[in-house]
Amino acid sequence: MTQLYPIGVFDSGVGGLSVLRHLQAQLPAEQFVYLADQGHVPYGSRSAQEIIQFSQGITQFFLQLKAKAIVIACNTASAAALSLLREQFDLPFVGMEPAVKPAAQQTQSGKVGILATGGTFASERYARLTNKYAKSVSVWEDPCVGLVPEIEAGRLDSPAVHHILQQALSPMLVAGVDTVVLGCTHYPFVLPVVEGIVGTAVSIIDPAPAVARQTGVVLRQNGLLTEAEQPGGVRFITTGLAEPYARQIERLLGLVAVGVETAVWHGNQLSVGQ
Ligand code: DGL
Repeated sequence: MTQLYPIGVFDSGVGGLSVLRHLQAQLPAEQFVYLADQGHVPYGSRSAQEIIQFSQGITQFFLQLKAKAIVIACNTASAAALSLLREQFDLPFVGMEPAVKPAAQQTQSGKVGILATGGTFASERYARLTNKYAKSVSVWEDPCVGLVPEIEAGRLDSPAVHHILQQALSPMLVAGVDTVVLGCTHYPFVLPVVEGIVGTAVSIIDPAPAVARQTGVVLRQNGLLTEAEQPGGVRFITTGLAEPYARQIERLLGLVAVGVETAVWHGNQLSVGQ
């Protein structure tokens, strides 16, 4: 009856909620556990080694909760740890990567902009991705330094957010970029600011709907789709502070009075509420 078990979803913080909302919309009967590793956010400026350790600890934690599959709703953690986790753990993983391939396929100007974290840009996985799919296009990259902490603090429309995105996007627009990829799961929460800067002639790609579709495919292939017909739910857990996390979820997902739990790191191991 593995089908009854939850799907573990994690990110450094609230960014992965931009993926969770699509997972819930596409797989409404599934149960999810969403872990925000806010004790360690941001991941983007950390070493790959650290992120691998966090991702291994979170995977062990999800296994204790009997997760049947894991969605890494974080480009930075996927870039650092996805291949290794697949080798080390015997359950299906769905990861994320900046949508370089669709951007390269759809650009008319041959120029695409990628917004992701420094960690993602520095990874071998990203280098392989651009080598494979972006050979015939010009790519502009920006790590949007400082943007994730603004979003984590709930400042989605602050002068700092406008400034960071203006600095990132202006050179791309001058260069003639017509497609911009949101390569960090936090960034869809500042989509209105991005749209305000780039205007309607530039298309913006958020890979989250495709990741949710892929999760459905992976569950089906492994015989893990739930047979339940009633709506599933989400257990929200943070390694940071419960109260602000609950307010963030309510605001970002449009929910009312969300209950949350905290988890604590003991070395490389996580446990709930101690
Ligand atoms: N949301 C994450 C991503 O998709 C990481 C942000 C961070 O913690 O730096 O890359």
